[in-house]
Amino acid sequence: MKKNTDLQNVLRGRAEPRIDGPLKVAGEALYTSDHFVPGLVFAVPARATIAKGKVTSIKTEAAQKIPGVLKIYSHGKLPGVFRPGAEEKLVSHTDEARPPFEDNIIRYYGQYVAAVVAETLEAAEAGALALQITYENEKPHLEKKMEQETSKKIESERGDARAAFAQAEVKVDQTYLTPVEVHNPIELHASVAVWEDNDHLTLYEASQAILNHQTVISQMLGLPKENVRVVSRFLGSGFGGKLWPWSHSIMTAAIARDLGRPVKLVVTRQMMFSNVGHRPRTQQRVQLGADRKGKLLSLQHDYVSQTSILEDYKENCGEATPYLYSTANLKVTSGLARRNQSPPTSMRGPGAVPGLYALESAMDELAIQLKIDPVELRLINEPQKDESNGLPFSSRHLKECFEVGARKFGWQKRNPLVGSMKKGEEILGWGVAACSWGARRLACQAVVEIRQDGKVRVSSATQDIGTGTYTVLAQIVNEQLGVGFENILVSLGDTILPPGPISGGSMATASVVPAVIEAAEKAKKNLFKIASETPSSPLKGEKAENLKFEKGKVISSKGHFSFSEVLQKANVNAAIGKGQSEAMMGGEKAKFSFHSFGAQFVEIGWNPEMARLKVHRVVTVIDAGRIINPLPARNQIEGAVVMGIGMGLFEEALFDERTGQAVNDNLADYLVSSHADCPDIDVTFLNYPDKELNEYGARGVGEIGLAGVAPALTAAVYHATGVRVRELPVRIEDLLKT
Ligand code: MOS
Repeated sequence: MKKNTDLQNVLRGRAEPRIDGPLKVAGEALYTSDHFVPGLVFAVPARATIAKGKVTSIKTEAAQKIPGVLKIYSHGKLPGVFRPGAEEKLVSHTDEARPPFEDNIIRYYGQYVAAVVAETLEAAEAGALALQITYENEKPHLEKKMEQETSKKIESERGDARAAFAQAEVKVDQTYLTPVEVHNPIELHASVAVWEDNDHLTLYEASQAILNHQTVISQMLGLPKENVRVVSRFLGSGFGGKLWPWSHSIMTAAIARDLGRPVKLVVTRQMMFSNVGHRPRTQQRVQLGADRKGKLLSLQHDYVSQTSILEDYKENCGEATPYLYSTANLKVTSGLARRNQSPPTSMRGPGAVPGLYALESAMDELAIQLKIDPVELRLINEPQKDESNGLPFSSRHLKECFEVGARKFGWQKRNPLVGSMKKGEEILGWGVAACSWGARRLACQAVVEIRQDGKVRVSSATQDIGTGTYTVLAQIVNEQLGVGFENILVSLGDTILPPGPISGGSMATASVVPAVIEAAEKAKKNLFKIASETPSSPLKGEKAENLKFEKGKVISSKGHFSFSEVLQKANVNAAIGKGQSEAMMGGEKAKFSFHSFGAQFVEIGWNPEMARLKVHRVVTVIDAGRIINPLPARNQIEGAVVMGIGMGLFEEALFDERTGQAVNDNLADYLVSSHADCPDIDVTFLNYPDKELNEYGARGVGEIGLAGVAPALTAAVYHATGVRVRELPVRIEDLLKT
């Protein structure tokens, strides 16, 4: 494909406000649960109140007497639901393959055991409460400690890490724990299922991956894929929790088919804690061996993560460990511990985020032992290539992230002595950590239509989960065609559109942008062909290669014509171009190691008199390729930093060890960062294009901003208090022990 000079403007990064902003502010953007269709009825599930055992009976008489209650579903009473028949990564994936009501066995608290459908939401809720359900209760496995692993797998290995560790002069050997975290986007999960002739389904769904959803749902409902349409136009975020289909979605569709009525089901905030995934608890042992100068000689990272009874979801904590630092000897192993808990799933920066908490905490502990500045220790161990596979990095500027961050933060003024930096009543703590996340590209398509009504439409079956995809696509088309933002229509979030990427793994932008640019280029070429060849065109007879397109006008030696005039006279509705992007996913044939990098600097203030801990400021420097639009990009990093403060200080789902119930299953008791907790956040992008990933050099910025925040924060807490927190979140009572 030809290079185009307009492109350079795009790639310098233009700050454009979100095109979907006004719709959202005016309440005109329809989220899934906003959808209403005539004849709509409501489903409310009843959930198991034990974590392990069996349903022995369900008495429905009282529920059935409630006016408006239509039907009650439970084990053996919901026909036509199956397990999915094929598992393909990112294409037909679910983290909960057991269809709802498949058997009467309970494997986790909150598992759906019945559903009441009624004419009104109130009647369905009353019906669900009126069910009398009895159980045969068994003692569940809910222990927090993870000694009995079900498997142990070597994830990465080089040299002899054990022997090198034994001989190392300086050692760190510590275990770090992270709790269950729950995604908790403000928009709840929801499904609205509408059938036509009982064999064609339209499913409105809060989904980060509509095409995957379509595939899985069609398999689980026993339908041809083309009979299922999944729509997800606007999302109130997802954080990974909305990547894969959950039971409520299959249940809603199957009930609607059985009942012959459209059905809506909205997951409650309580259900968000047991029915739609979470980040599982992890226990990670990190052993570092170094020489006196700080050179890493050995790195061992052995982790176990909790998982559910039926599925094998693993929190991939060793994700970043093998490539982040240079060391000749390394071993990363993983294990799973099965518990009677609901299936875990990807949560923003899955694996790398808890993994880097452990690794970067250990690096800080090593720096303290060595009396080497923690920034310096990272610089000493900067690798020349990805030592896990011998590949060069496509673009790695971690050193510069540290250097720029240190300068902006004022790191050289840091007194390393614990508790030595004071400001008023407070002791200041300064901490630092590295962050990293993979960069990949998925195969996808996009279509651009230059239309005679004066509009240009771009479409792709990807999603905007709040990250700015609508705006980025409009921006790319505008820079390519110059027709003005106001004339560009962006269509996303519908499986009838050209196949687009999942909104996950920070891959959507890097994947879809090349396809959109190619589509715009091809649409323009088609416009020139139409202009020069169609009998009634004002430019008939011109050579297509002599035509130019500027600011919405087709330019030739004969004069200028707006594209709408050309198309109207030619009697063509739209000049259409289709673009395609190829996958780049690493693997055997990879020539480069693709990753984003960053450095997080955190200042906390600890007031021991008041027992108050506060994050004052965060300086974050991110190397994520070329930034297309700095506004939503900065917004992503700021949001991720706020989430990182939540991870460091607040977030932890607590479970009753008798029943498995999340005891803080609401936003009053499950703490997330609030506005009052937000520090001053300074975001810098280094903006080096990663030309190996795509010729535009864009990677993605959704997840990396969360990585590194928690270990930088706990390093700062140590610097202020002398207390090393190795079990998240930081608790004030831990800090008062000294
Ligand atoms: Mo992200 S956990 O891939 O939505």
